[in-house]
Amino acid sequence: MTLEIFLRYVHFNSIFAIVGSLVSEHLLLKKEVTRAELDRLSKIDAVYGIAALILVSVGLTLWLGSIGKPAIYYTKNWIFLTKVGLFSLVGILSIYPTVFFIKNRNGDPDELVKIPSSIFWMLRLELLLLFVIPLLAGLMARGVGFFG
Ligand code: HEM
Repeated sequence: MTLEIFLRYVHFNSIFAIVGSLVSEHLLLKKEVTRAELDRLSKIDAVYGIAALILVSVGLTLWLGSIGKPAIYYTKNWIFLTKVGLFSLVGILSIYPTVFFIKNRNGDPDELVKIPSSIFWMLRLELLLLFVIPLLAGLMARGVGFFG
């Protein structure tokens, strides 16, 4: 019981850290930013990355560890599998912005760098998916979508 509550607590806080860092990145992004600003974005993006790793490892533990419910409860639930699939898509969408921030942060800190519009759209799509996933989470936690 205690372990499950603790893992869920960490699961929720890592979601807050992910959404918080993504919203911060989106607010700080402009059509052109300095390399110093890119360095700051890259640091916020690192928080996003670490929080995502924690969320996935805790999520997988809740799933495969049979901590609260047996693993089959999730393995045979198409809504749960869709949830994990959507979060994998969020992960894939996050790669290009991360690489762009790291590749362009070094050099003259005052130099301006153009931000491709695709990066804005990737962040927005990530946020949209992150706002949909909790609906799927609430449904699957109550057994909706179970086909076992
Ligand atoms: C690989 C990624 C993930 C895995 C493996 C995973 C796994 C899980 C598991 C096993 C539970 C426990 C469900 C239960 O109580 O029966 C859970 C709960 C939850 N997850 Fe995730 N999760 C992942 C990503 C996410 C993401 C990205 C979000 C939100 C953006 C999220 C939101 C939630 C919520 C809100 C609950 C609580 C549902 C409820 O009790 O109503 N999860 N997750």
